Amino acid sequence: MRTQEIEAEKADLENEREFQVKIEAGIRIEPRDWMPDGYRRALIRQISQHAHSEIVGQLPEANWITRAPTLERKLILLAKVQDEAGHGLYLYCAAETLGASRDELTLQLLSGKARYSSIFNYPTLSWADVGAIGWLVDGAAIMNQVPLQRCSYGPYGRAMVRICKEESFHQRQGFDIMRALCEGTKLQREMAQDALDRWWWPALMMFGPPDEQSVHSEQSMAWGIKQSSNDTLRQKFVDQTVPQAEYLGLVIPDDDLQWDDKEGRYNFGPIDWAEFASVLAGNGPCNRERIAARLKAWNDGAWFREGLLAAAHAGGTTEESACGGTAE
Ligand SMILES: [Fe+2]
Ligand SMILES: [Fe+2]
Repeated sequence: MRTQEIEAEKADLENEREFQVKIEAGIRIEPRDWMPDGYRRALIRQISQHAHSEIVGQLPEANWITRAPTLERKLILLAKVQDEAGHGLYLYCAAETLGASRDELTLQLLSGKARYSSIFNYPTLSWADVGAIGWLVDGAAIMNQVPLQRCSYGPYGRAMVRICKEESFHQRQGFDIMRALCEGTKLQREMAQDALDRWWWPALMMFGPPDEQSVHSEQSMAWGIKQSSNDTLRQKFVDQTVPQAEYLGLVIPDDDLQWDDKEGRYNFGPIDWAEFASVLAGNGPCNRERIAARLKAWNDGAWFREGLLAAAHAGGTTEESACGGTAE
């Protein structure tokens, strides 16, 4: 027995060494390849949080579909919100290749055990918020997701390629709403400014805690899951977005914001991490409402899931293929 244990330990070490060599050589890890348990767990956590964010993220904007100011804007917003549902589905499928079932992940979301991006716990108070979300929130998502296309785990990286193309359309539609408002009446410009005032700081928080406080960052980077640090991405976002706000004639709500010629970047004021922690802990303005909406959707969809499984059994299809997943 003891010899067997030693042999198993040796095999694990060898597997781990080969795994790290592959990561460093930029060779993708695929579902059937050996991977450390911690790598699998970290990916399931990150991919499912990402999937939940796409799904919960539909709610604040869906709030405005029926009130979009024109038919064209309504069509664009509908397409955008549908894209987010698709993103959620690709990502749940990517998580399924790691052995986590979609039902299990959904139940973690509904029970409050799993997290999603804290930004979706803020309310959309005006049509300008739909513009600000596309411009800033999808803009920040792109900044986060472009490097993830090179993620060491194949299914996640490949899902990101398509997602990023769609996010780029989302960002542009948001900017276009802001542009139209900023070229409009005084009241419309005020709406746009008010939306920027409310979404700016939560958008900066989307990149996660500062590097020195980020618990999972270092290991995630060593495993090639994460390619850039939170602070690096946040800085890139600020540098890219400030000139866009200037173009729109809007003012970023930060008195400390200043171009640093020496460093070639914008310096910005301190982020209220206490607010971030409070929203993450479930006390944001809309946390309860968001989970209640997902719970209602889950319960309302029970008849459909049951019907799908019954049809799959009757037709001889496997449950997995009927649900669109191939959990291993
Ligand atoms: Fe998305
Ligand atoms: Fe998006």
